[in-house]
Amino acid sequence: MKILFIGDIVGEPGRRAVKIILPKLREQHALDFVIANGENSAGGSGITPKMAGEIFSAGVDVITSGDHLWDQKEVMELLQNEPRFLRPLNYPANVPGHGSGLFEIKNSKSGIQNPVLIAVLNAQGRTFMPPLENPFSLAAEEVKLLREQTKIIFVDFHAEATSEKIAFARMLDGQVSAVVGTHTHVQTADEQIFPGGTAYLTDAGFTGPHESVLGREIQPVLTRFRTAMPQRFEVARNDVKLHGAVIEIDNPSGKAVKIQRVSENLNG
Ligand SMILES: [Fe+2]
Ligand SMILES: [Fe+2]
Repeated sequence: MKILFIGDIVGEPGRRAVKIILPKLREQHALDFVIANGENSAGGSGITPKMAGEIFSAGVDVITSGDHLWDQKEVMELLQNEPRFLRPLNYPANVPGHGSGLFEIKNSKSGIQNPVLIAVLNAQGRTFMPPLENPFSLAAEEVKLLREQTKIIFVDFHAEATSEKIAFARMLDGQVSAVVGTHTHVQTADEQIFPGGTAYLTDAGFTGPHESVLGREIQPVLTRFRTAMPQRFEVARNDVKLHGAVIEIDNPSGKAVKIQRVSENLNG
C-alpha cells in the first residue's frame, strides 16, 4: 500500500496547496492513505476545527501536530471530539487528546477490498524543545501495543535535533513502517530504509510559501534577529510548495519497500 505524508501545512497558502495538489498526487501515486501535519494551518500558528475540516475535505485522512498545538484555543474541541486529530503522545497523563490512533484503509482502486488497519503515532522531541515526557520510552511502549492490532504503523516525530530524530527512528527500526520527522520546515535529503525495514526521513519539510523564512514574511524575522525586538510574523505568500514523502509499505509485514521525497509547486 502507498501512503503520503505531508509536512507542516502553513496558513492559507499551505491549505490551498493541499486542496489543489493532493488530488493529483492521489491519482499519480495511487495513494491509499494520507497523513498531514497541521500544527501551523491556522494563520501559521495552531489549528482550529474549521481548518481541520478544510484539510480533511481536501483528502487528508489523519492530522498530526506538534509544539504549536495550543496556539488556537479552539483546538480543545478537536482534542476532545476528533479521533482523526493527533497530538504528541508524550504529554503528561490526563491531557486531552490522543497520541496515536488506528484507522481503516479501504481502496477498491488499488485492490484493498477488505479493510486494512493502519496505526498513526505522533510524538515530540525534547532537545531544543519545550519539555515533555520522554518520547523514547513512551513511543516504544505504545508501538508494542499498536503492533498487537497492526504491523502497518506510521510515526510523525516532531523534533528539532537531527540526532534525536535519527536515534528515535533507529530505536523503532523493524517495529514500525516509517518514521518521518517534522518541525524544522526544511526538507532533508536522507530518505532511506533502515535494515529492519523502517522507512526514514529526518524532515518532510513544510507545505506553504517558500519565498519566506520557514513560511513567514522575511523582513519581520530579519528585523527580530537584528534588533531582538518582538515582531508580528505574517504568513508569506509566494512560491507555494507541497512538501512530504510517499512511502510504499508491504502488507501484512508492515515493512517499507520504498520512500520517495515529494516537493510539488502549486503553480506548475
Ligand atoms: Fe511547524
Ligand atoms: Fe513545530
